[in-house]
Parts: sequence; structure tokens; C-alpha cells
Amino acid sequence: MRNKVSIIGAGMTGATTAHWLAERDVADIVLLDVVEGLPQGKALDLLEAMPIIGKDISIVGSNDYQATEGSDVIVITAGMPRKPGMSRDDLLFANADIVRQAALNTIKYSPNAIYVVLTNPLDVMTYLTMKVTGLSHQKVVGQAGILDSTRMRTFVAQELGVSVENVHCYVMGGHGDDMVPLTHVSNVAGIPLDEILPKHKLDAIVERTRKGGGEIVSLLKMGSAFYAPGLSVTQMVCAILKNKHLIVPAAAYLQGEYGLRDIYFGVPVQLGRDGVEKIIEYKLTDEEMKMLKVSAAGVAENIAKLNLS
Ligand code: APR
Repeated sequence: MRNKVSIIGAGMTGATTAHWLAERDVADIVLLDVVEGLPQGKALDLLEAMPIIGKDISIVGSNDYQATEGSDVIVITAGMPRKPGMSRDDLLFANADIVRQAALNTIKYSPNAIYVVLTNPLDVMTYLTMKVTGLSHQKVVGQAGILDSTRMRTFVAQELGVSVENVHCYVMGGHGDDMVPLTHVSNVAGIPLDEILPKHKLDAIVERTRKGGGEIVSLLKMGSAFYAPGLSVTQMVCAILKNKHLIVPAAAYLQGEYGLRDIYFGVPVQLGRDGVEKIIEYKLTDEEMKMLKVSAAGVAENIAKLNLS
């Protein structure tokens, strides 16, 4: 039987995820959105592209959650960006309502699915999804670390003039300006970044990585990044469906790892058919641990605002 992936939210990231996924031919795809016609139109357009690349997959758009029935993976991208006059808290509560609705409506039809969450604030929305669906924490994971790390890889490769394939970067922490790009674990063909780049250049790359999302937002003027986020989700979905045991940074539920508890937070995880199989613990420096705690405090504060426990 073919795999099935349902993407909730057929906006920029949802539709782009569908696009990247369709090219990889790993699953049939359902796009779901509240806006009538939007998921149907995008799904049909994408389906009509498939003969060109010879992919016989089903791509369906719907406003009805029944279409998601029997999904192996549910991707949640539904949400809204911050609008003028809205505080971060306003966005938190607005997106919490949307994600809660998406989680409740999908778990009814796909009780065995693995959830990949993308809606911001990411770590909090992933926590919310675990609580609302009642699923075990292994089955709910958030996308952020692959995106932050691929941005850092891009900047390092540009700076050194080497192939992106030689650059391995690992960014931990909450998906916000306090994220923690690891400069010693990250490496170029095995050489740690802090040995290959002078401090001022490395500091600039770390700073640009932290503000990577904002850089795109300020260029686009409306909306946020979608190509790299969509491909990051796609890598996670493929790792799950193909049971790859792939180690990537992602938002996972912590129960003492890195000294943190009852929080979703960006850490290296091993992904396979059952979701998060393992959390990898790096040896961090005291400075990195300090930064991680600052980032975790921000995420925990927002989780607390939702009164979920
Ligand atoms: N149910 C289903 N879809 C919804 C709902 C809902 N209750 N509410 C909103 N949506 C849909 C919108 O109609 C829209 O099509 O979610 C989609 C969001 O798409 P965009 O506005 O294009 O936003 P996008 O760039 O895709 O970002 C979505 O992902 O990366 C994060 O920060 C980003 O939180 C944001 C989310």
C-alpha cells in the first residue's frame, strides 16, 4: 500500500512541501486548508505537473478532514504570520487555536500517524500538538533545526568557497533569535568550524543564522520563508517513511536530556518509522549550555502561557 501524507495548511510552506514531496514520490499527498478552492487548485496544478516527471501519485486538495483519513504522516503548517499591531503573544494564541483544531481533526482520522509540526512559534506548537492528540512524544516532532542548520551551512560554504556537501552544521535550541549554532561540533570535512574560520567571521555567521528567518521576511516584505522550510519538512517526512534512522536537528520532547524537562526543544534526534527513535546528547561547552538554558527559558515561558499541563 502506498504511504499517505496530509499537509494541513496549503499556504506557502504547505504547498511548497507538497511540491518537494511529490518530486520524491514517497507518498500520496492530501493538501487541506480552510480557504475554499485553495487546496483543490494547488493540488490539481501540482498533479498536472506529474506527467512531466513521470510520477503516478495521487495529490488531492480538500477542505474536509475526512480526506486525510489513514495518513502515515500529518504535517501541520496551518497558521498565520504576525500582522501589524499583533504582539508575539497574540500570534501565539491565534496559532494555538488553529493548531489545536488541526490536531484534533486529524487524529480522529489518522490515530497512528506521525506528526511533523511547522507552525510558529514552533517549539510551543509542537508541544501543543502532543498534548491535544494524546500521542506519545516519539510520534510528534517539530521542524526547525534542519532549516536553521541548512542556513548556516549555506553561509559557511559561501564564506569558504567549498561545496555545501562538505559543510555540516548543527543548530540547537528554540527556533528563535536565541537558538544555539554549535561552532565546535559543526565542521567542514571533519575540521571544526572554530578551527577553520577566524572568530569574527564565525561570529558573523552565527548571528546571520540566528536572524536567518528575519532576513528573508525583511526581503519579502510579506510572508516568510518557504522553500527551505518546505524542503526541511520533506527531509523529515522521507526519513520517517523510509525508516532511515536519520540523525537531524529537530524539536523533540525532552525528559532530562541536556538538563531540560517537559519541553519541546531543538536537539539532534534520530528519525525513523516510529518517529523520534533517539535523542543524541552532544558534549557541550559551559558557554553553549548557558545559551541553551536562555533559549529554553523563552520556550518554557510560552508553553506555560497556554496552560496545557
Ligand atoms: N485550518 C487549516 N488551514 C488554515 C487554518 C485552519 N484553521 N487557518 C489558517 N489556515 C491556512 C491559511 O488559509 C493559509 O493557507 O494556513 C495557511 C498558512 O499559509 P501562509 O499564510 O502562506 O503561511 P506560511 O508561510 O505557509 O507559514 C505557515 O509555518 O513556517 C511557519 O511561521 C510560519 O507559522 C507559519 C506557518
